[in-house]
Amino acid sequence: MKVTVLKTAEEIGVAVAKIFTDEVKANPDCILGLATGASPIPTYNNIIKTHKEEGISFKGVKTYNLDEYCDLPKADKNSYYTFMHEQLFNGLDILEENVHFLDGNATDTDAECRRYDNEINEAGGIDIQLLGIGNNAHIGFNEPADSFTDGSFKVKLTDSTIEANKIYFDENPMPHYALTMGVNQIMSAKKIVLIATGPKKAEAVRNMIKGEVTPQVPASILQNHNDVEIFLDEAAASLL
Ligand code: F6R
Repeated sequence: MKVTVLKTAEEIGVAVAKIFTDEVKANPDCILGLATGASPIPTYNNIIKTHKEEGISFKGVKTYNLDEYCDLPKADKNSYYTFMHEQLFNGLDILEENVHFLDGNATDTDAECRRYDNEINEAGGIDIQLLGIGNNAHIGFNEPADSFTDGSFKVKLTDSTIEANKIYFDENPMPHYALTMGVNQIMSAKKIVLIATGPKKAEAVRNMIKGEVTPQVPASILQNHNDVEIFLDEAAASLL
């Protein structure tokens, strides 16, 4: 794991955006795995900035998001579909048919998860996967568990995750279920970049980097990947 500690979330955004835009420059047909939440927002702002300033085209890029809430309309302001369009896609020339999500409203969630995994595999697999980390060390919505998960699946969110994310839900109650890529699916990305900022992440970050590899700390599996870059601010790095 390559760990970089920077002063501010904005500096992290600049550094991580460069990794992604360099990939798009080198490989205009690359496949990107994307995350939602607060952590990637400065990265997405800086990707849009570089796209506009340097004219890098995203027309050949395909994206696959990590997760999506169940039982929330796609157009809801809190769906990850809406988040990604507002925070990133609307600022790029990426093609709508090239952005992919798990359908949290699918009636057959198992079939939906198999469809998503097959599509990623048939596209050639993810070149760079962006991750945040939960206060409980989840990646995607892989919550602490007795075993590491494989492909995408429907998950019941833990109280810790509901507590952290319910602040965004002022109109509708926060869903308690989501569809998420599984741990092995995430691990099959060729490169992984994880961002963590703020003091609430410090314990999860320490356990991810310094603790044993255990499904009780889902992010600890990243110790077994050969190309992981972790970007932290000083607060998130404070227990290292
Ligand atoms: C989001 C996701 C989650 C978040 C994590 C951190 O697609 O899969 O694992 O990355 O919950 O969220 P923030 O960045 O809001 O602290």
